[in-house]
Amino acid sequence: MSKKGATKYSPTPVRYDAMTYNRCGRSGLKLPAISLGLWHNFGSVDSYPNARKMIRHAFDLGITHFDLANNYGPPPGSAEENFGKILHADLKSFRDELVISSKAGYLMWPGPYGEWGSRKYLVSSLDQSLRGMKLDYVDIFYSHRYDPDTPLEETMGALDSIVRSGKALYVGISNYSTEKTREAAAILKRLGTPCLIHQPKYNMFDRWIEGELLKALRDEGIGCIVFSPLAQGLLTDRYLKGIPKDSRAAKPHGFLKREQVTEEKIAKVMMLKEIATARRQTTAQLALAWVLRHKEVTSVVIGASSTTQIDDAVGTLTNLSLSREELQKIDSILAG
Ligand SMILES: NC(=O)c1ccc[n+]([C@@H]2O[C@H](COP(=O)([O-])OP(=O)(O)OC[C@H]3O[C@@H](n4cnc5c(N)ncnc54)[C@H](OP(=O)(O)O)[C@@H]3O)[C@@H](O)[C@H]2O)c1
Repeated sequence: MSKKGATKYSPTPVRYDAMTYNRCGRSGLKLPAISLGLWHNFGSVDSYPNARKMIRHAFDLGITHFDLANNYGPPPGSAEENFGKILHADLKSFRDELVISSKAGYLMWPGPYGEWGSRKYLVSSLDQSLRGMKLDYVDIFYSHRYDPDTPLEETMGALDSIVRSGKALYVGISNYSTEKTREAAAILKRLGTPCLIHQPKYNMFDRWIEGELLKALRDEGIGCIVFSPLAQGLLTDRYLKGIPKDSRAAKPHGFLKREQVTEEKIAKVMMLKEIATARRQTTAQLALAWVLRHKEVTSVVIGASSTTQIDDAVGTLTNLSLSREELQKIDSILAG
């Protein structure tokens, strides 16, 4: 046992056996079908031993991709600091087996240079993230949101120079509309740094990408990693009997608010659970299989507060196919 009570970590040699890896758009990079995001449950308000346990567990299951951003915490920045600590304690010699992402776009520090999409903000924020995680480079760096007040050429130009400076290997965009995605992709192509990936929200309760965005990503050869595939926990059994004390909706800093756990949503989840049970899956697994049904979706980035939830997500991969009848039933539940 080390001083902190955690045993020395040796990843299991069979960690690549059960995971599926998908090529990200037309790039050479493969991502695990299930990735782990550190938006919640990895900040300094959370349990560090639990965070550490989840990272180790995820890696043992073949989850090679960890998704971060400058503002994850709370407080903002603390998830990257904790991840850096865990990485150096447990995964230092496995850096080349990992794909680590960060982002900048939302408010990080006061004044005119602490958010949005200027070169000034993106470059200094990535420098801070690298210091926080004690890394020389991230694998993917994202513009976290489109900035209507900064020319897109400047934001994309900053991403291009970040790659050329060696601080990121690939770049992506997140929360960009279809129109801005096509514009951004064209600028990046001209600059010689292709857009690797788009990170939009997508789940059974929010289907906006099904219209034009997926088609644009297919046309442009851009990969897609979708966030909040479980609608922050709503698309699981978590809230079927009320709001548990340890759940995201009960936490003051959680982004899922109590009022979002509505009777109408829970009634739908109950019906989805019946379909899942008939498939011998959990509700969460059905929700993840449904998101992964699009060939454009490279990976889903889940959140978790326990290793059991990570097991549940990875278990999805043994039963991904959905029949036309099941899809129709799901559509009618969601439309109802
Ligand atoms: N680009 C962006 O703007 C953006 C925005 C948001 C998120 N993200 C990324 O996406 C990641 C995932 O987002 P998310 O956390 O909202 O994803 P999510 O997978 O929709 O929700 C995760 C939450 O669902 C609950 N859960 C997970 N598995 C469960 C299971 N098997 N049974 C019951 N409950 C389960 C847990 O809630 P409890 O904590 O209550 O247990 C968990 O924290 C983030 O960490 C971040 O990396 C990106």
